[in-house]
Amino acid sequence: MDVYEAVASRRAVRAFTDRPVPRATLERVLSAAAWSPSGSNLQPWHTYVLTGAPLAELKKRAGERLASGDPWDAPEYEMYPPELRSPYRERRSVFGEQRYGALGIARDDLEARQRAAAANWDCFGAPAALFCYIDKDMGSPQWADVGMYLQTVMLLLRAEGLHSCTQMAWAKYHKTVAEVLAAPDGLILFCGMSIGFEDVTAGDARIGRAPLDETVTFVDGV
Ligand SMILES: Cc1cc2nc3c(=O)[nH]c(=O)nc-3n(C[C@H](O)[C@H](O)[C@H](O)COP(=O)(O)O)c2cc1C
Repeated sequence: MDVYEAVASRRAVRAFTDRPVPRATLERVLSAAAWSPSGSNLQPWHTYVLTGAPLAELKKRAGERLASGDPWDAPEYEMYPPELRSPYRERRSVFGEQRYGALGIARDDLEARQRAAAANWDCFGAPAALFCYIDKDMGSPQWADVGMYLQTVMLLLRAEGLHSCTQMAWAKYHKTVAEVLAAPDGLILFCGMSIGFEDVTAGDARIGRAPLDETVTFVDGV
């Protein structure tokens, strides 16, 4: 699979089969992703990989919290600016229409949207997941490094025939994740990532993108 194909075929997959992901594959992917770039080569990511009983335990605990209406943990970082302005507000709204529209959920059916979103905490059925932390004292450039690393992981997963879904949703239950992983103090959970083989029988949407001239400016020489 070439890089263009990996980029084009990567999408946030939200339905996985229970086919296990071999440990050797995950090790291959994460060893290769370690070559991701980072400012001054800090490599500021801390990755925990969960499969089997520990992942089942995490899903169970998160599911119990969700079912009992337990409020989310106090956020460790702001996921979005409090006032999302144009064009981001519109893009988020289009995303919602595409994601929930594909599931046949109406715009104003908040309950159905919440039910669909709840699948986050079951990792959409995935048999493997990673959880990516960053040290609390790291700044924006290091968060960008972590993003590059995660994208590298996702593209390498494609090369292995696997799919993924990055999930900030797990940060809402960061205390439960930290308990199960025994994560040390001093780290912030940026996100989880569900990993597995796509359940192709589930309906899905291809989320669109803004036209190139909205996000890229060519400043050409004469
Ligand atoms: C940092 C990050 C966090 C995300 N968190 C979630 C999440 O919690 N739940 C979810 O279903 N999708 C999540 N996504 C997936 C995005 O919704 C998705 O990447 C975006 O809508 C574009 O769609 P595509 O990846 O399928 O092209 C996240 C993506 C990123 C990069």
